[in-house]
Amino acid sequence: MRKLLVAGNWKMHMLNHEAVSLARQLKVRSLGLHRVGLVLFPPFTALTAVAEILNDSDLQLGAQNLHDRRSGAFTGEVSGEMVRSAGGSWVLIGHSERRQFFGDTDAWVNLKVHAALEAGLRPMLCVGESLEERQAGRLQEVLGRQLAEGLKGLTAASATELALAYEPVWAIGTGVVATPEQAQEAHALLRGMVAELLGMDAAQRLSILYGGSVKPDNARLLMGMPDIDGALVGGASLKADDFVAIAQAADGVVK
Ligand code: 13P
Repeated sequence: MRKLLVAGNWKMHMLNHEAVSLARQLKVRSLGLHRVGLVLFPPFTALTAVAEILNDSDLQLGAQNLHDRRSGAFTGEVSGEMVRSAGGSWVLIGHSERRQFFGDTDAWVNLKVHAALEAGLRPMLCVGESLEERQAGRLQEVLGRQLAEGLKGLTAASATELALAYEPVWAIGTGVVATPEQAQEAHALLRGMVAELLGMDAAQRLSILYGGSVKPDNARLLMGMPDIDGALVGGASLKADDFVAIAQAADGVVK
């Protein structure tokens, strides 16, 4: 059985004192939740401060991006090793906002996945189609390309640390959530594709999170679907009440 995962992508929010305050609240309020894994993705600037808060807790920490090189003259970039040294154990890769605004191509995403694994980080690879792509009947093609390119060169053994996040672009920050059936369809497709790329065993072990307007009132139904192994939460992860409510929903889902 896979333990559900609920992750909070704080995006470009949270000054350090706000990040520390939110992390403190989450640490205390998630104490009784043993059947769900929780991961926080603050901005780079708050990683160390949040790491200190989470130090003696089960909450895990990650960065929202990394550069594919280990070090060098890359002004403004952050390496996997740096994320590790700041206390991170996860990293988001290929979020649609990075693909849309910062030039993250499938090829670069792939380099980042490899760099993350080499640095000892767990990559959470984000994939998802735009509204136009969905309406043109290209869901399978788009997810297939993002996955095949993103996972190129990975073996089943190296994929044990990997997680996927299905985030349909049209559901991100829009309040329009995929129906549980739409999300389940995409997740089942993704798991089938991973089975072809990396084998059935890897596919069954892989956690696939849903992201896109997850809120306390829709979380339980989504995570109750057979191939939905948790949630990657944006806006609602910035409020302790909402994030805790989503984590509680996950904790109550028995699969
Ligand atoms: P929202 O939950 O704000 O729609 O954001 C989803 C997301 O992009 C998480 O990575």
